[in-house]
Amino acid sequence: MPLNATKEEKPAKRPRVMVVDDERVTRRALELILGSEFDVKMLESGNKAVDHIRQDMDFDVVSLDLNMPGLSGIETLKVIKQHSPTTEVLLVTAFQDIESAKQALKLGAYDYIEKPINKDAYRQSIRKGVRRRQKALASEKAQQQLKIVKAQLVHSEKLSAIGELLAGVVHEINNPLAGILGYSELLLFREQSPEKTHKYIKNIQQSAVLCQKIVQKLLAFSRKQKPKKEYVQVKDIVESTLELLQHEITKNAVQVVNQFADNVPCTIADSYQLQQVFLNIINNAVQAMKEQTRLGTLTLKSGFDDKSIRISIYDNGPGIPGENLQKIFEPFFTTKPEGQGTGLGLSICYEIIQEHGGNIYVSSELGSGTHFFVELPIAEPDKPLPTVASPDKAEQMPGSKKILVIDAKETGYDLLENMISALEHQVDVAHDAFSAKLKLKSENYDVIISNMNMPELSGQQLYEHLNQVKPELLSKILFITSGVISEEVRRFIEQSGIPCISKPFGLDEIQEAVQNIETT
Ligand SMILES: Nc1ncnc2c1ncn2[C@@H]1O[C@H](COP(=O)(O)OP(=O)(O)OP(=O)(O)O)[C@@H](O)[C@H]1O
Ligand SMILES: [Mg+2]
Repeated sequence: MPLNATKEEKPAKRPRVMVVDDERVTRRALELILGSEFDVKMLESGNKAVDHIRQDMDFDVVSLDLNMPGLSGIETLKVIKQHSPTTEVLLVTAFQDIESAKQALKLGAYDYIEKPINKDAYRQSIRKGVRRRQKALASEKAQQQLKIVKAQLVHSEKLSAIGELLAGVVHEINNPLAGILGYSELLLFREQSPEKTHKYIKNIQQSAVLCQKIVQKLLAFSRKQKPKKEYVQVKDIVESTLELLQHEITKNAVQVVNQFADNVPCTIADSYQLQQVFLNIINNAVQAMKEQTRLGTLTLKSGFDDKSIRISIYDNGPGIPGENLQKIFEPFFTTKPEGQGTGLGLSICYEIIQEHGGNIYVSSELGSGTHFFVELPIAEPDKPLPTVASPDKAEQMPGSKKILVIDAKETGYDLLENMISALEHQVDVAHDAFSAKLKLKSENYDVIISNMNMPELSGQQLYEHLNQVKPELLSKILFITSGVISEEVRRFIEQSGIPCISKPFGLDEIQEAVQNIETT
């Protein structure tokens, strides 16, 4: 800026006042009182004031005659407050209008002044109205800013939670992925001896299985699946979980003290999800106890009152240090060595138990052991109990079925074709919708394995097609999904009851699913 330049002051904006009065003499007198200090707009009726405020709400104060022909002062006040709540209203009344003035105060006017008007009192009151409005505007602005800051904070908290989750995923998956890539490269590098080739393939397989487990746990965690509702005896689920873990328990010389009572009431639950909970808690306990020299003991107890069932799982392992105790239900918190724990187990347990309307607690003492405590609501069935289907492995039977694979992608059908042949079933492949429909028309199959995302023959379309042309084949369908499905597809799967396998899958899973489809 040049030295001799003077900074031009912007004139301060004068407060804006609207005067509404039907008497010309009064309007003139009020204009003279306010003129030099305020920016004044004169109007002669309530109707005009209302029309004007609808277009231009930025008045600090409205000086309003209470007693006017046409729209009354009270009605005018209501409309002004509705359109511009921060505009302050001063009433000008005759002595006999005091009751109406009091009513107007209740409706939001800040003050009233009686005629004949005292010049100074009137000016003071208008100034008071201006101050009140400016305060209200400042607080409104502060509130809005606070709202913005709060929204930003919530957004940044969400982002940081997602960031932490992603970092955990990347960290967990990168390790097994390094194994898969490294050993594949070694295999392709140059001819290997058969033993080396076998060892590399074994390593690739182990790393891939680890990736699969991580992905499955993540899906279980992120889906927050609604549990299936069936009456279950928790005792049955605990016992089938112990059976599944029998090998681990014996291998680590853990003694099991099962004090689960027979008379524990039922709960409504998803038996598969509950099994996941007990599987993880017991697995954690066994893993903790195998690290110590003293003999490990796992104790299971039950209890109930008129509302809930309580399941206690005690171990006499090393216990959990106080600083870790608050973190164990957080996703990705683990103290296990690289590749041995994802830290998702207990966070999934927590989600599942919450979905079931229950609670999960932990108490632990260093050097003595840990106690997990699961509480579930009681639900007594009024009809006989359905038997609990325990998710055991299907019996492995020799293959002999005629299977159609429908998949457009080479990586999809080639893998399935090879797996099904390895399981000694007969396999036929359709690469597109046209040939699939043709084969389905001319042949009969024991099982139809179809990719849910097949172009021109999605899962739903295949279902509708068979429903029209060969409904007897509907019970033969087995869908393959990518593992991530839309809400609509999930609903379709649930309603149709068609079994699904999500990628990645192993030979066992294919065999089990194929065996579960009945041959007619
Ligand atoms: N019974 C227990 N005794 C001692 N520590 C335990 C026990 N149960 C859980 N923990 C601690 O809680 C951590 C989190 O358990 P969580 O089941 O969530 O994950 P993880 O077992 O480490 O991994 P994952 O379940 O995915 O294989 C464990 O790493 C371990 O430090
Ligand atoms: Mg675990």
